Amino acid sequence: MKTRLRPLWLLLCLGALVLSCKETAKNTEKAQGANEQETAYYTEAFRPQFHFSPEEKWMNDPNGLVYHKGIYHLFYQYYPEDIVWGPMHWGHATSTDLVHWQHKPIALYPDEHGLIFSGSAVVDVNNTSGFGSLENPPLVAIFTYHDMKGEQEGKNDYQTQGIAYSLDNGETWTKHVGNPVIKNNGYKDFRDPKVFWNENTNKWTMLLVAGDHMQVWLSDNLKVWEQVSEFGRDKGAHGGVWECPDMFKLKVDGTAMEKWVLLISINPGAPNGGSGTQYFIGDFDGTTFTTEQDGAKWFDLGRDNYAGVTYNDAPNGERIFIGWMSNWDYARDTPTEKWRSAMTLPRTLRLENMNGRYELFNYPISQVDMLMDGSTTGRSMEMAAGDTTQLALPSGNQTEIKFTVTRPNMQLILRNEKGEALNLSLDADGEMARLDRSQSGLVDFSERFVNGVQEMPMPHLPEGPIEVRMFLDNSSLEVFVNKGQYVMTNQIFPTQDYTVLEMVPKGTAPLAITEMTVRPVARIWD
Ligand code: FRU
Repeated sequence: MKTRLRPLWLLLCLGALVLSCKETAKNTEKAQGANEQETAYYTEAFRPQFHFSPEEKWMNDPNGLVYHKGIYHLFYQYYPEDIVWGPMHWGHATSTDLVHWQHKPIALYPDEHGLIFSGSAVVDVNNTSGFGSLENPPLVAIFTYHDMKGEQEGKNDYQTQGIAYSLDNGETWTKHVGNPVIKNNGYKDFRDPKVFWNENTNKWTMLLVAGDHMQVWLSDNLKVWEQVSEFGRDKGAHGGVWECPDMFKLKVDGTAMEKWVLLISINPGAPNGGSGTQYFIGDFDGTTFTTEQDGAKWFDLGRDNYAGVTYNDAPNGERIFIGWMSNWDYARDTPTEKWRSAMTLPRTLRLENMNGRYELFNYPISQVDMLMDGSTTGRSMEMAAGDTTQLALPSGNQTEIKFTVTRPNMQLILRNEKGEALNLSLDADGEMARLDRSQSGLVDFSERFVNGVQEMPMPHLPEGPIEVRMFLDNSSLEVFVNKGQYVMTNQIFPTQDYTVLEMVPKGTAPLAITEMTVRPVARIWD
């Protein structure tokens, strides 16, 4: 196979030299990362530069995503004592643009009812709970209490639901004296309340998961709840317990029609192993969710997008999703020292009717564009069959790669000078994408980090030109094919930044790439 370095990109390589001193310093630091005690703020080995991660210690699921008075709140499962999972609190961060984040004090601590597991938050605009007033409506958090003692004693009713409120836009929280508001009648797994205001019925609506199914509960005041239906014992994937439900209405693009989308995380049982998120498209009459869909559809076919949920009350009716960028298969073992794990880029959700099938798209919110130079002009490239084209990555592992292509049958390989390589193959004709991270860097911290090559079926890729977009942020790669129709999110731990993107057309046809940009992504931490 011939390797040709295109002149256009040679120029880019030269440009890269300007940045290379900085990069070398960063690489050296990354190589030493494991031994380093003190580093500048948010520059430790593998630290994401434009994704949310906690300053220190363990984080898992996003919780209580709610927008109120110009502020996006991100609460999250947090253990402040260690970098492995432990007694859960709700950590807290806020943002005005969903891109830059401010860390806040811990919002919810464990109490006599138990640890604080996942849940949601609402703005109680009409003060139905009586916790605030019409002038100052309360924020109300709804979460699961996990009673460790009960679990250790072998009981099966140790998960209950509690609420807390804040009258100062999330700065301080008070637990409700009547907790728990929903007791448990015998489900070992009974958790992750997602509450939203259903404007069709004027009811607070709660989704709860109970092992192998989801339950719907209704309330007028967030304190007294009644179960009205259940869904899913015989639908979708059941390779593990159901977790972190979410449900919302979406307009079908280009029509006046609305459908309801139900997200259900499942662990284990994802197609590529461990944790994953399935979705159902159907209808909700205010009490019952129904769907004609029997099998599972998957939100993201990478291995590291779990427990994701969406914002309540996001402006302009936008439906915005954030997921936890990890997988329970190895979440506790990843090679970071100060903190553990990050969130996905926030993504906007959209529904398309493609020849009678509904497809859920998830794609980075437009605010992310502010992190890249919008004046960069795209290039066109013609690649002959068998050619290898190498492009420099001047900004290393802090890069956005984007191009347009028709029927991508090609390999995209990210390489560094240590011989580490991350291999993505897009096989439009074979209707499949494959991602191999077995040589991508550190992988042996867990036997389950690499369990073969990941596969993402792409059965309904359009025939015409489509966009391929990738975000590389130190220890993650997010791949969006056709604006979020097919998505793979993965953690990676290269011991040096990748310096080259290699592109190889597969098969006998030449490949035309247009609007190609390789742009540095600005860091979000001061
Ligand atoms: C999902 C999950 C939730 C639970 C939380 C505990 O990752 O298992 O079901 O509430 O994590 O931290």
